[in-house]
Amino acid sequence: MIPFSPPKIYQEVIDGVAETLRSGWITSGPKTKEFEQKLLEYTNAKRVLCVNSGTGGLELVLRWFGVGEGDEVIVPVYTYCATANVVVHCGAKPVFVDVGEDFNIDPGKVRAAITEKTKVIIPVDVAGYPCDYDELNALVNENDIRSQFKQRSENQTKLCRILILSDSAHSVGAEYKGAKSGALCDVSVFSFHAVKNLTTAEGGAVCLNLQEPFDNDALYEQMRITGLHGQSVDAIDKINKGHWEYDVVEAGYKWNMPDVLAVMGLIELKYYGDKTLVRRREIFNQYSKSLEGYQWAQIPPYDLEGKLSSYHVYLLRINDISEDQRNEIIKKIFEKEVSVNVHFKPLPMLSYYKNLGYDIKDYPVAYDNFSREISLPVYFDLSDEDIKTVCDAVIESVESIINK
Ligand SMILES: Cc1ncc(COP(=O)(O)O)c(C=O)c1O
Repeated sequence: MIPFSPPKIYQEVIDGVAETLRSGWITSGPKTKEFEQKLLEYTNAKRVLCVNSGTGGLELVLRWFGVGEGDEVIVPVYTYCATANVVVHCGAKPVFVDVGEDFNIDPGKVRAAITEKTKVIIPVDVAGYPCDYDELNALVNENDIRSQFKQRSENQTKLCRILILSDSAHSVGAEYKGAKSGALCDVSVFSFHAVKNLTTAEGGAVCLNLQEPFDNDALYEQMRITGLHGQSVDAIDKINKGHWEYDVVEAGYKWNMPDVLAVMGLIELKYYGDKTLVRRREIFNQYSKSLEGYQWAQIPPYDLEGKLSSYHVYLLRINDISEDQRNEIIKKIFEKEVSVNVHFKPLPMLSYYKNLGYDIKDYPVAYDNFSREISLPVYFDLSDEDIKTVCDAVIESVESIINK
């Protein structure tokens, strides 16, 4: 069976984890700090804080910005539930908007959804393909949009406009007009979950890029404290002689990344640009080359208009089929020992959000994308022969259903 996305674990990663386990320091410490520094150099963000999940990172930023009851946060319907769940955790309302043909949030629909309650927009780089950051960054700076922004927290008063918080869970290494994901808007959050291109098993990072009067170094400290119980001194500082005493300045959370996980990311990052992304791009190109000749195949965008994907998921769409036909095709592909997937079931189709009153009929592009979508396996060790097996399975399965 060809799996969908097993992690790439280099021997060096195993050795690095073992060495960290033996080092006497396994939770947040020198490895986490080093990983933050290397991510900063890689992305060109102003400051990077590692956390124990992308979800935790997104919630940390919403809470830092003072998002709460009565506030609205604009979220695309085409995403993983984490993007909207964190808004709910904070007591605010997710305002869903439809996406475009490229699966990403539609800036025109974002504009129409903005109200005086809007505090944050969360674009999601679906499958690693960057959103329209120029449009989104310009939108929140327009005079009439700024003037309806209602400030309710110290940080909102300081920013004086809607915050752009990118859910970059998929897009480590993606590029937009020559700049890297992590440095494309106010704040971006990566995920290093097990299925991601770069994984620490579980983990994430908050990339800070706020302009003056914000001080990103001070923000880093403040967020680090919030993510560690509000404790003024962290564990490694506490063991230094004379630093036993600490204070708790707020009822914080537990979002810190441990060294034993950071070391995995640190080693993978060394090979990320030159090896991981290169192979993933080759896989994407081979899929496109094999499938683009078929009239039923709609090839996903991954290198267009100054946007370069991180090649996280290959989102194939089949033209002119129903959701039921798509499901039948998936069944047939699995019968041929190939694992595929669907990214994503739009949020209004999930019970929790449906029960809140969201209706998928209001998001026709998202539904159309979803109903015809099949995600193909992409992982470092997928061989050229495997790619051919996947393509043959897809072609035979699609043709057996559409010619029925
Ligand atoms: C689009 C998106 N956002 C957020 C997350 C949450 O990331 P994590 O699993 O690291 O909490 C994921 C995880 O799969 C995701 O796909």
